[in-house]
Amino acid sequence: KKVVLAYSGGLDTSVIAKWIQETYNCEVVTFTADLGQGEEVAPARAKAEALGIKEIYIEDLREEFVRDYVFPMFRANTIYEGEYLLGTSIARPLIAKRLIEIANETGADAISHGATGKGNDQVRFELGAYALKPGVKVIAPWREWDLTSREKLMAYCEQHDIPVDFNKQGKKSPYSMDANLLHISYEGGILEDPWAEAEEDMWRWSVSPEAAPDQPEYIELTYEKGDIVAIDGKKMTPAEVLTYLNEVGGKHGIGRLDIVENRYVGMKSRGCYETPGGTIMLRAHRAIESLTLDREAAHLKDELMPKYAEVIYNGYWWSPERLMLQEMIDASQQTVNGDVRLKLYKGNVIVAGRRSDDSLFDESIATFEDDAGAYDQKDAEGFIKLNALRLRIAASKGRSPLKL
Ligand code: ARG
Ligand code: SIN
Repeated sequence: KKVVLAYSGGLDTSVIAKWIQETYNCEVVTFTADLGQGEEVAPARAKAEALGIKEIYIEDLREEFVRDYVFPMFRANTIYEGEYLLGTSIARPLIAKRLIEIANETGADAISHGATGKGNDQVRFELGAYALKPGVKVIAPWREWDLTSREKLMAYCEQHDIPVDFNKQGKKSPYSMDANLLHISYEGGILEDPWAEAEEDMWRWSVSPEAAPDQPEYIELTYEKGDIVAIDGKKMTPAEVLTYLNEVGGKHGIGRLDIVENRYVGMKSRGCYETPGGTIMLRAHRAIESLTLDREAAHLKDELMPKYAEVIYNGYWWSPERLMLQEMIDASQQTVNGDVRLKLYKGNVIVAGRRSDDSLFDESIATFEDDAGAYDQKDAEGFIKLNALRLRIAASKGRSPLKL
């Protein structure tokens, strides 16, 4: 028996690595991914070795993450409950996929993760795992063990010679955090009171809008088929794009969010997020689509977007419904090409201009000046009258909207 563990190198997953070996008397394979969380992943090797791990996987998945998960999601202008840009949700399916691939390579029959039994992440890891390997076993220590308090966890570390400063920089954050190239999240601690404002020094990726530069900054994004391929004329890979936008967005105080959201397991949860690059990408993508997408195609996308967001939030990336939606979304992006010019200023992303060879905008038709016969205003009379027909019939039969 062998288990592949999603291993961050932090204290909790180190305890898990030990606990699984002890409790199940089986081998543990660790998998640590660089998804752009901004922490070195290399030290995970020595830490895993110290825990007696023999098979250690450490991978840089930043390009795959942005290219195959973040960008496809942004083609749909996806936001959950009107606000959340799904930074954690979209990383889980990639981790689930690698866990299963590594299980298949190493002959493991089980996977494990450090998510609690109260959250969304357990659902996302496990739905992904089951979808890709139907017979896989899942070990979720947080749902099983009795190390239910910080003290018990520390006592376990002491008993098993797990160095407690295993945690990043030895400094324990008061928040439950998750970071990757798309966002950093904060939950727990004082945030458990939805009325309590987050402390300024909680935020790690962005300055506050009031501390942002007094001078605005312009950037130009180039789109091909709905994805950003260049910034200010310079070609960039997907991960380079997001890295750059995080930097410039964070500098201008863009992308902070404080929400109460509905978890799939049923509870409400308060979370704070910094998504500087994602916030810029969402605004810019809508701007380029506004020029290049047919109205009904755009509106249909908008109707389906909340469903697509929910599918991702709830952990169904590897499902037939997500694949169906993705085909439709991707098909819509064939003409989403061109440039968007943005002004970044004190927390704001302001669209300054957009242009495209695939533009459907026709100045000769839209103009307020003389259109030289491009559009016959008399056509509008019949258009309105026929659209009003049912309203007029109803009113003539005494169904005035004011009386109902
Ligand atoms: N509430 C967010 C979500 O469900 C963020 C979860 C953060 N996860 C974590 N392990 N700290 O997507
Ligand atoms: C966790 O419970 O492990 C983190 C929060 C979540 O998954 O929603």
